[in-house]
Amino acid sequence: MSFFKRVTRKFWSLCFYSRLSLHSLLGLPAQTSKERQIFKAIFDQLADKKIRVFEWGSGFSTVYYARYLRKKAISFEWHAIDNNKLWHQKIKNMVKDKGFDNCINLYLKEFLPFWEKPGWGIVPPPCGVFSPKEENELSYVNFPKTINEKFDVMIIDARFRRHCLPVAKEVLASQGIIVLHDAQKPHYQIGVEKFPFQRFIDSGAWAPFQPIPNKVWVGVADNKKLFDSLNCF
Ligand SMILES: C[S@@+](CC[C@H](N)C(=O)[O-])C[C@H]1O[C@@H](n2cnc3c(N)ncnc32)[C@H](O)[C@@H]1O
Repeated sequence: MSFFKRVTRKFWSLCFYSRLSLHSLLGLPAQTSKERQIFKAIFDQLADKKIRVFEWGSGFSTVYYARYLRKKAISFEWHAIDNNKLWHQKIKNMVKDKGFDNCINLYLKEFLPFWEKPGWGIVPPPCGVFSPKEENELSYVNFPKTINEKFDVMIIDARFRRHCLPVAKEVLASQGIIVLHDAQKPHYQIGVEKFPFQRFIDSGAWAPFQPIPNKVWVGVADNKKLFDSLNCF
């Protein structure tokens, strides 16, 4: 890799982690301000009945949006899964502190993220080499199917995103919506075209000089009104 590329990478990574730390301090999700607006607009649209949420990748998002929903007196039930034990425990403590034990359910299926596995390097191996294989990886991907419910909002924001997408489709309530975060990455986009209503929304850069700014992808089965309400973004 050229010197220039290495310096650019280092700088980008510094900006990425600085913003992540700042968001953690402020109790904000790892999302741009436009992404927060998109999620709030979705919750507002679905506010007329209890909102059932499933999130792959628990985090500040879990508590942040729960606080938003509570403030607006919107009834909800939130399920979120993670693969990182320390992170899961941290979020669990936050959920308890904020008094959300009765409406947020956190699950843990522990496994190493791909970047800590042998064989991962600066040049990533071909797509599929790190697909879910271990029992916990497969359980993590398929977890929403064990809850025996349909979900109004499915958030895909952590490991194995393109494998989570078909599962999300299976358990999505007919009026529900799937939101795929960081959807600008081409390898996350497999299968998105299969939704009757789907689009990518430009959602701003997470850090300066980001080569490709963020996008979120939204997919809806049978709720054109909800889909159209996002046209303002
Ligand atoms: C991109 S983060 C998204 C988490 C969450 N949806 C949010 O927006 O706050 C995905 C994963 O990164 C891991 N993680 C570890 N440290 C983290 C940190 N400081 N902030 C966010 N995620 C972290 C967690 O395992 C988490 O599931």
